[in-house]
Amino acid sequence: VRLFLDTADREALARWLPTGLFHGVTTNPTILDRAGLRSSFDDIAPLMQEILTYPVQEVQAQCWGTETDALIETGLALAALDPRLVVKVPITENGIRAVAALHARGVRTTLTAVYVAHQALTAAASGADYVAPYFGRINDSGRDALAVISEMQAILGSTGTTTRLLVASLRHAEDMARLASLGCDTFTFSPVVAEQLFSDPQTIEASAVFEATAAGA
Ligand code: E4P
Repeated sequence: VRLFLDTADREALARWLPTGLFHGVTTNPTILDRAGLRSSFDDIAPLMQEILTYPVQEVQAQCWGTETDALIETGLALAALDPRLVVKVPITENGIRAVAALHARGVRTTLTAVYVAHQALTAAASGADYVAPYFGRINDSGRDALAVISEMQAILGSTGTTTRLLVASLRHAEDMARLASLGCDTFTFSPVVAEQLFSDPQTIEASAVFEATAAGA
């Protein structure tokens, strides 16, 4: 299982990464913007260095520039920051070209903004390490995200590819459990969902009873 924290918020990183629960952190331009950061090396490099002081194995940052050359150039510069960096790229035609080029140069990548099942196939063919479907946004568009992502999981499983499904845009911990029961094992979610993982009232109550008993109350 690989869990990623989907945030660039420094307080949330400090709150959650020391738990040891997270394989890594995922970011994108929107997430950076929410944290008051821009998609520039001046903003991204210090953030990446800070994240890597925590016990994580990977950190994902998105390259930028609409044209393939720009995506490759910013992707290579991001990858040069640290070997634990994975470059995220939107799954456009230019994005696929960039991923194939980055893969050929030994850079690990995630294809993101994934909405339809056949994109899992193109992601695998391009040599991406991860393909990131947007669970919540697929449901928002009126389609059944569980069914779409289940189809992607079947595609990746039957092709024997090493490309891994990284389910994103999760808003409820229960959805993650449903997806895990279908065979998904890699997720990215916000600090809000992280809070949900530790908010079960019965667990909280049972643990309080243990503590009270241990204290001789
Ligand atoms: C992933 O890269 C996205 O940041 C994220 O999962 C999207 O989540 P949202 O649809 O809840 O904004």
